Amino acid sequence: MSRFQRVAVLGSTGSIGESTLDVIARHPERLKVHALSAHSRMERLAEQAAGSGAAVVVVPDEAARRRFQAAWPAGRPAPEIRVGAQALADTAADDGCDTVMAAIVGAAGLPAALGAARAGKRVLLANKEALVAAGGLFMRAVREHGAELLPIDSEHNAIFQCLPHGERAGAPDQPARGVRRLLLTASGGPFRRHDPQDLHEVTPDQACAHPNWSMGRKISVDSATMLNKGLEVIEAHWLFAMPADRIEVLIHPQSVVHSLVEYEDGSVLAQLGQPDMRTPIAYGLGFPDRLASGVGPLDLARCGRLEFETPDLQRFPCLGLAFDALRAGQAACVALNAANEVAVEAFLSGRLRYTWIPRVIMAALEWQQRQSSVTLDSLADVLAFDAEARAYAGNLGLA
Ligand SMILES: NC(=O)c1ccc[n+]([C@@H]2O[C@H](COP(=O)([O-])OP(=O)(O)OC[C@H]3O[C@@H](n4cnc5c(N)ncnc54)[C@H](OP(=O)(O)O)[C@@H]3O)[C@@H](O)[C@H]2O)c1
Repeated sequence: MSRFQRVAVLGSTGSIGESTLDVIARHPERLKVHALSAHSRMERLAEQAAGSGAAVVVVPDEAARRRFQAAWPAGRPAPEIRVGAQALADTAADDGCDTVMAAIVGAAGLPAALGAARAGKRVLLANKEALVAAGGLFMRAVREHGAELLPIDSEHNAIFQCLPHGERAGAPDQPARGVRRLLLTASGGPFRRHDPQDLHEVTPDQACAHPNWSMGRKISVDSATMLNKGLEVIEAHWLFAMPADRIEVLIHPQSVVHSLVEYEDGSVLAQLGQPDMRTPIAYGLGFPDRLASGVGPLDLARCGRLEFETPDLQRFPCLGLAFDALRAGQAACVALNAANEVAVEAFLSGRLRYTWIPRVIMAALEWQQRQSSVTLDSLADVLAFDAEARAYAGNLGLA
């Protein structure tokens, strides 16, 4: 066994990937990069691989391989270049790594995240869409293959930190002993106070201008619509075996309290910190130790006020749709996620108005209800139904 924890960072060129490499670079005595992956930013991938000494990089196709090679600094020994989606899943299961940071955006990250779980790795899960699309399958793989699943989404990481672990928690497929409710906080995004009538003309840049967090564009739009919080409710359901009616969402515009756990005796435990993803990432990399993350102290006196309010489902219809999908079951969750990915992509590329995002999702959920006997017992089943839902959403004439 290596004295280093060897990490594969899947989606290394994204916001979570960059933050992960920043934390790893602070701990050369215990953390080492094994593999990196990217989808379009090959020049950045080459810089990251050269800087971190990665042994392996994974790229999507031959054209990307050539771009990576062209960007590689002359005279330096190059990493092994693996190509394609299967190579991504194989790399997640590779003997060369102990820990996998699953930071690809969207359901595209599911096969690799599942591959890591099936290989019994420490899985740092940022890719919430994997759990939304295949929560049952994923959690079963974690249990059956002895993987160690650590949530990286700041809300779930906060909840994880506030929950009892091991024997004190009870059975893994039941809510932790003594817990009454989970309270997920949400900033409310850039349009928290806007009149919903005024959102018709919203541009991608306005939707991506998050007040507190710096993130990739897809999750930024999801935060604006609050579908992101809906995905997180579904994620919390699977991670913590918690029924929908014991998960509550609270708008907290300052993003200082990252989430809370309410116990049967009335105690409420919360995790607080600056809105910087390096804190949950360092927690996942170091667990059970605490590692320096580069995040500074929280100055509560300077924060002054911490506010909380109940979200308005008229203003944020996507949040209500996610609760509906969770109550309806796994097929509805696949349809919700797939339709959202199609709609957000169309919005970001100027083909769909912002206010049509919930309409596309609603139409896909109605379509899903008309499908009889959908089986989602395997990864192939999930991917096939996900593709059907995407095709439906894409053919609506809206996207
Ligand atoms: N950002 C945050 O603060 C935050 C917080 C909590 C959870 N998350 C979750 O973490 C995940 C990543 O978010 P992010 O903000 O880091 O996203 P991002 O900045 O858009 O980065 C996404 C990464 O995935 C790669 N990628 C995109 N499409 C791919 C595909 N089809 N196949 C393989 N790789 C692909 C991208 O490669 P290229 O860049 O090379 O195209 C990039 O490395 C999401 O699931 C998000 O919900 C993010």
